[in-house]
Amino acid sequence: MSPIGQREPVPHRENSRAASVRAHPSLALVKYWGKQQHGTNIPATGSIGVSLAALVTETTVTPAECDTLSIDGVEQPSERYQPFFAALRDRLATVTNRPEIRDARFHVESTNSYPTAAGLASSAGGFAALTVASCAALGVPREQIGDATLSAIARVGSGSAARSVFGGFVRWDAGAEYAESLYPPDWWPELRVVVVPVSRETKSISSRDAMNRTRATSPMYAAWVADAPSLVSAAALAIGRRDLPSLGSAMRRSYLRMFATMFAADPPILYWTPESVEAIRRLEKLRSDGIEAWETMDAGPQIKVLTTADHAETVRTTLEDLAALPPIVSEIGGGVTLIDPTQIQNDTTRGEASR
Ligand code: PMV
Repeated sequence: MSPIGQREPVPHRENSRAASVRAHPSLALVKYWGKQQHGTNIPATGSIGVSLAALVTETTVTPAECDTLSIDGVEQPSERYQPFFAALRDRLATVTNRPEIRDARFHVESTNSYPTAAGLASSAGGFAALTVASCAALGVPREQIGDATLSAIARVGSGSAARSVFGGFVRWDAGAEYAESLYPPDWWPELRVVVVPVSRETKSISSRDAMNRTRATSPMYAAWVADAPSLVSAAALAIGRRDLPSLGSAMRRSYLRMFATMFAADPPILYWTPESVEAIRRLEKLRSDGIEAWETMDAGPQIKVLTTADHAETVRTTLEDLAALPPIVSEIGGGVTLIDPTQIQNDTTRGEASR
């Protein structure tokens, strides 16, 4: 492996090109929270995610002399990305039998249609997009690599990115290197996710640090890991039957138990704001009035509500005054797809407008 930043000729230039992709975050219905002690983002708990069509990451990768990366026009510290790029180059060189890929470097430009690092899983879509676009930029056909390997590479950047490579409903088992498709995007057409960003703040502690602190200090952690398989099975069964009350109830157990491990960490991790708690109470009331609307939260205070198309507007108006940014109603999305680079400009403009 070449040292970081070492500039070398790129001998595979004839295969290289600019490649652009579109990706979506994978919202965890059942949460991955905790990493196994050894390995890179190997999960201690199984998870099930669903792709959110309305939240869009677009990424263009161009082969270059050194690694540079910007998100929404802001240059990122390249050290954060080096373990990911090292894994990507190593894996692609091995799978394709093209050792020169180890010397490849990338110029990356990425845009999100929603705030980065605010608990809306931008890293999931971001690293999934980066993986697929880098492959395409090196001229490696996706079929040659396979989605399982793409998922394993994306995982090194951010665990949840392993799920975002795929569309629809995705399962990622405890101890697994990669995620797997469970059901396609059109499996449950009337399902909607109402995303309600209740804060504009960047999160106080990264999911990576919060997971590590939880595992190291929370007396609840062992119980959480032991209990997690039952939640994956219950949610998978409910999705198979398109049974929202059962899925919602498994989702609620998953996120509340995940946060219980964080509350008990030392020092405690508290992502919620008063608006998050108020949303939980209002949705409880809505359900008691017969409206199926089930919330979840991730490493941040933002609320995501699983409901059906006929109730999405009621959910939106119920929570609207708590929102720091306009709520977004999302359908279930696809996985990472290649796009024509000339489309990027228009789509970025659309993304900005929806913030
Ligand atoms: O993979 P990360 O570091 O983005 O962590 C994801 C953690 C949660 O969003 C809270 C749960 C999940 O499964 O996506």
